[in-house]
Order: sequence, then structure tokens, then C-alpha cells
Amino acid sequence: MSNTGLILWLTGLSGSGKTTIAKGVEAELKARYCLVELLDGDAIRTNLSKGLGYSRSDRDTNIRRIGFVANLLSRNEVVAIVAAISPYRSAREEVRQMTDKFIEVYVNAPLEICEERDDKGLYAMARAGELRAFTGIDDPYEEPTNPEIICQTSQETPQESIAKVIEYLEKLEYIPPKPQIEYSI
Ligand code: ADX
Repeated sequence: MSNTGLILWLTGLSGSGKTTIAKGVEAELKARYCLVELLDGDAIRTNLSKGLGYSRSDRDTNIRRIGFVANLLSRNEVVAIVAAISPYRSAREEVRQMTDKFIEVYVNAPLEICEERDDKGLYAMARAGELRAFTGIDDPYEEPTNPEIICQTSQETPQESIAKVIEYLEKLEYIPPKPQIEYSI
């Protein structure tokens, strides 16, 4: 089976676990010799989207740029994994329309849990009013209405979430099965 390009789009609140799942899926796909590239919101914002802020218009621009690159990759047999809050449904739908292989993963965790994790300390800053327009606090997050996959990261381990994604891709034959290494002795 040849490698099939696709866009695997992880959306969810900051701290929901998008990057963790994305990295785990990336590693598993590499182990299966798939072509794979990870486009992570934080990294993208330091180069491709440097200078953009967090207004609706800037976020939409960010998502369009990521979608554009993900589409270029996916049509060249690369599995483009995107991990970005992508809070607006319409922007995600725009990207979905670019390809027939768009898989939306809703990385879902209650706001309270994301806030408790607060890996980057940004929720505390947002609550203190030091950071404006923070998603989930004073800026909206529009949940996916019909995502292909939902990972409930407050109820499942990262390994379980990663397995869920991999099993979905396997079932649709978008990725090859795990290679069985046979040693000849
Ligand atoms: S998106 O809304 O445009 O999709 P993206 O995923 O690229 O967001 O970037 C979100 C990251 O930027 C967060 O993980 C966080 O580290 C940082 N960040 C800084 N300010 C904000 C903010 N106001 N809202 C959300 N994330 C922010």
C-alpha cells in the first residue's frame, strides 16, 4: 500500500493535549515509514505566522496559512499533522474544503482541567488580566460539530488518544499496518 497524504487537524483549547497527541502520532507514523510533517501552532507562530496576534482576523489568517501548507504537503503523500487551537469553525471548514482527506480531531478537555494544567502559565496571566483575548477565558472556542475523532484527554491517557487516532487511520487504510519485523536466524 502506498502512503496516502492527508491532513490530520487537531483542534482544542490551549493545554488540551494537542501537541502531545500530535507528537505521539508523528512518532508512530514514522515507525511505519510514512512521510509525515508536524505543523504546531506555537512553532508556526515563531516563523510562518510571526507577527500575527490573536484577533479573529489574525487567527483566521494563521489557520489559512497553516491550511495552505498542510494542503501542499498532503497532496504530495505527506501526512500533515496540524496542532493549532483553530477556535473558529468556519476557518477549519475552509481548510476541510481544500481536500477530500481532512480528518478533524477534537482534542477535548474541560476548560477547568486545561486551566489546572496551565503548562505555560498563560491561563493565570489571562485570569489576572495580563493577557487579553485568551481562548476559553475572554475569547471564544467553537467546538467541532462533526469531528471524525474525539479524544477526551481528561478521561484517557495520551497513549489511548494516540491509539484512537492511529486505529482510525488504519481502518480507512490511510496508513499501512505496523511493520512486523521478522528476524532470520
Ligand atoms: S490559533 O487560535 O491561531 O489557532 P495557535 O494554536 O496558533 O492559535 O496558538 C496558540 C498558542 O499561542 C497557545 O498555545 C499559547 O501558547 C499562545 N497564546 C498566546 N496568546 C494567546 C491567546 N490570547 N489565546 C490563545 N493562545 C495564545
